[in-house]
Formats: sequence, structure tokens, C-alpha cells
Amino acid sequence: MNYKGYAYINTIGCQMNVYDSEKLAGILSSYGFEMTNEMDKADIVVCNTCSIRHKAEEKAFSFLGRFAREKKKRPHLITVMAGCVAQQEGEKAFARVPHLDIVLGTQAFSRFGQHLDALKSGKKQIVDIEESDMIFEASDITKSGESGFDENRISKFITIMQGCDNYCTYCVVPYVRGRERSRSHTAIVDEIKILAGNGIREITLLGQNVNSYGIKEEGISFPQLLEKVSKVEGIARIRFATSHPKDLSMELIHAIRDIDKVCNHLHLPVQSGSNKILKKMNRGYTRETYIERIKALKTACPDIALSTDIIVGFPSETSEDFNDTMELLRQVEFDSIFAFAYSDRSSAPAAKFSDQVEEKEKMIRLNRLLELQEEYTEKKNKALVGKQVEVLVEGESQKQRDGFKKTSDKMKQMTGRSASNKVVHFPSENSAIGDLITIRIENAYPHSLWGHPLGAEKR
Ligand code: SAH
Ligand code: SF4
Ligand code: F3S
Repeated sequence: MNYKGYAYINTIGCQMNVYDSEKLAGILSSYGFEMTNEMDKADIVVCNTCSIRHKAEEKAFSFLGRFAREKKKRPHLITVMAGCVAQQEGEKAFARVPHLDIVLGTQAFSRFGQHLDALKSGKKQIVDIEESDMIFEASDITKSGESGFDENRISKFITIMQGCDNYCTYCVVPYVRGRERSRSHTAIVDEIKILAGNGIREITLLGQNVNSYGIKEEGISFPQLLEKVSKVEGIARIRFATSHPKDLSMELIHAIRDIDKVCNHLHLPVQSGSNKILKKMNRGYTRETYIERIKALKTACPDIALSTDIIVGFPSETSEDFNDTMELLRQVEFDSIFAFAYSDRSSAPAAKFSDQVEEKEKMIRLNRLLELQEEYTEKKNKALVGKQVEVLVEGESQKQRDGFKKTSDKMKQMTGRSASNKVVHFPSENSAIGDLITIRIENAYPHSLWGHPLGAEKR
């Protein structure tokens, strides 16, 4: 069927959900909907949800809850819950959001249109949380970036694999995203070629554990995929997430070192610095093997920027265990971290573990950890003062920075990122979005850098 009207998508959660929302936008466009940024105007509202922590899940329910009154006024308004909470809750979602029309699980995208048609024909409260070994290939419906949904003109996420087989004991992903499966390298490269043709300069390859890309399918390895992607003309930078420490291979370390377009940055989630906790998390490595991997990485790529994820307050984490994590931060000196208070997820085994840590204690530990990391983030930024970094220009800065002087009419304050993923602001008269430009860093702030361009900009 063909539809008329506006569609609004709210995305909660990780980069994979951002990618999925683009695909949902593509499907909606192919059914005749026009994307809008104004929620009040929408005829269909989709919430693409995340259930990684309790707070994210609550966000989804509260967003969709807001439409109860709206739906009384405008009965034709369609409400859809998509993504990880949808997959987790299934039928139960209607109890909390009675006016919800469609619950679209993570593996049901290819049937979205069919469900819209069924709804139009009078069917009520549709649920699709069927699991599938297939990965939805959007090329059948619409080409990436053609729905007009996402305005980011230079950088895109690309999912290269779905699901996860690692079963870390705190994590819902294996239950909401299904078994690990990889897309074919030809589909990935074709999609990236289309993006490059549309002016995209940077891509981030996404998977829960990119190091096991293609293994089940007996296809090419992840480093080989990086090699293929690096041949796509127009793409200047390649990033990827996430690497699992237990599977970080020398082959990948060498790919980061040898393939120019692969950024000098690795996100390697450690989760905890305590061997006791790592074991209970089922992470499959020890603190020592993690540090040994970091050493191998720093030997091959001395300037590599490192980031990580950490969970504090996992069941039975004592203050000694927490101190082990603090000590690991001091030892590794990450450029940045993402830290979370452990959140109980009923579908994950750790929910049944004894010795749960009190919320208040989790918050104290979280703040102490973040405070310690501030020192290293600033130290790493300061070490760049006087150095030259290559920046991919993202646009004009939103805020006036110290040091900016408008010396001519054409002078603008621009912003971009270094290959090491640091935000850099600089004055420029003629740089455009998508340019690669060398900046000499003059000042370091806790979360950004300031400098001046050197020489001519290049594409
Ligand atoms: N596949 C990736 C992570 C995906 S989830 C990996 O293994 O690294 C992103 C981050 O959310 C995780 O790294 C973890 O730090 C955090 N996380 C996952 N489940 C959580 C939970 N139950 N409570 C708090 N943080 C959690
Ligand atoms: Fe979750 Fe662990 Fe899989 Fe990451 S590797 S998605 S933390 S189960
Ligand atoms: Fe959240 Fe699902 Fe991503 S649970 S973190 S949106 S895979």
C-alpha cells in the first residue's frame, strides 16, 4: 500500500540503533511517508529502543506514553515500538503502552511494511519478535542515505554483523539481538560505495565483537574486510567498534598500523580491573592479558588513542575490586572512558547473583572513577599541544571558543575530529565540511583542542 503523511523516529541506544533507524526511515519513505523532525506533525511515530540499562528502557516507555492523549485527538496516529525493548517485551509492551500499534523486534524489519498494511486493514496490536538468522539488507528497499532522514553529511555507521554469542553475564544483547551473524563483505562494500558516492568521508563499522567477523560464515576476516573497505574511493577514514579484548588479534593490530585510512584509535572495553569480577562477568580474559594486549598495541602503534567501557558496582564488587579498576585506569592511561553503574537486567544471569551493590555505593564509585579519568583525558589532550593533527572538518562550531578572533568577514570558527577521535576547533576562511586539514594544536581543554590550520586543505 502507499501512504501519505509524516513520520517521526526517536532513536535511543547505541550506534547500531542509529543505523537501524536510517533503515526504518528508508522503509517508511518507500511506503510514501515523509520524514519530519517535528513530532507534533507526525502521522506515524517510531521509537527505536534500547534495553542495555534500566534507564534506557524507561526512556522508551515514557516517550511512547506521551502519545496516549494525542491518539485520542488523532486516532489515525500510528505508534511503533521498535528495537531491543520491543524484542525483549513482545506482547507485554501493550500492558504498559495500551495505545501502541506495532511492536517491531530487532529481526522484523523486513516485515514492517506488511504490518503497516495489516494495521490499515483493521488489525490491532501487532507483535513481531520472530528471530532470524538473516540480516535485513536495506538495498532491496531503498539505498542508504536516500530517505533524507539523517543529515550528517560526512560520517556514517554501518552494521557489519548482528547479535552476540559472548553472553557476558550482565548483558541483554545476546537475548535481544540474537546469535552472532555477519553480513557478506560484498553487501558491506557496496553499501559503503553508495555512501561515498553521496559524499560520506568517514565510516564506522559496527558489530558487538568485530574481531569475530566472518568466522562463522567462513568468509574473509575482519582485517581483510578493513583492507577491502579502505579501497573504496572517497572514504578518508575508517573507524570500528567494538573489539572484544579476548579476540584482539595481531592481524588486527597490524591492520591498524598499516592501513592508512584506519584511524589510530581503539575502543577496547575492559569492564573491570578485577580478575574476580572479570570471571563473574564471563569476559574470557584477565587483567594481565588485557594489559599485555595493550602493550602489543602500543608497541605496534605508539601514538594510538585508547578508550574503554567500564561497569562499576557489578554484584559482589568489593572496594578492593573497585580499586583494581582504578589502578588499571592509572596503568593504561586511556584517552577517554564510558563508565556505567551496573544495572540489573532480568534476562541476564547476573540479576540472580548474590551480593548486589547498593545504588548509593555504585554512584560513589562511578563518580570517583570519572574524576580520576578526567586527569588522564586532560593529560592526553595536553600532550598534543605543539603537535600537528589531521582533522576531518565536520562544520561550524556551535560555541565561540577562547582564542577565536574574526580577522576577516569570511573567517569562521570550525570544528572537526582528529583520527584519535578528539574534537578540534580552529579558525578558517575556506575549509568546508569533509575536508581533511592539518591543524597545529595550541591549546588543550578537558574535552576539546584548539589550533590553527597549516597549509592548504585537501580532499
Ligand atoms: N559489545 C560491546 C558492548 C555493548 S554494550 C562489548 O562487549 O564491549 C555497551 C556497554 O554497555 C558495555 O561495554 C558495558 O560497559 C555496558 N553495559 C552492558 N550491560 C550493562 C548493564 N547491565 N549495566 C551497566 N552497563 C552495562
Ligand atoms: Fe554484551 Fe558481552 Fe556481547 Fe558485548 S560481548 S554485546 S557486553 S554479551
Ligand atoms: Fe541498546 Fe540494543 Fe544497542 S540494547 S546498546 S540498542 S544493541
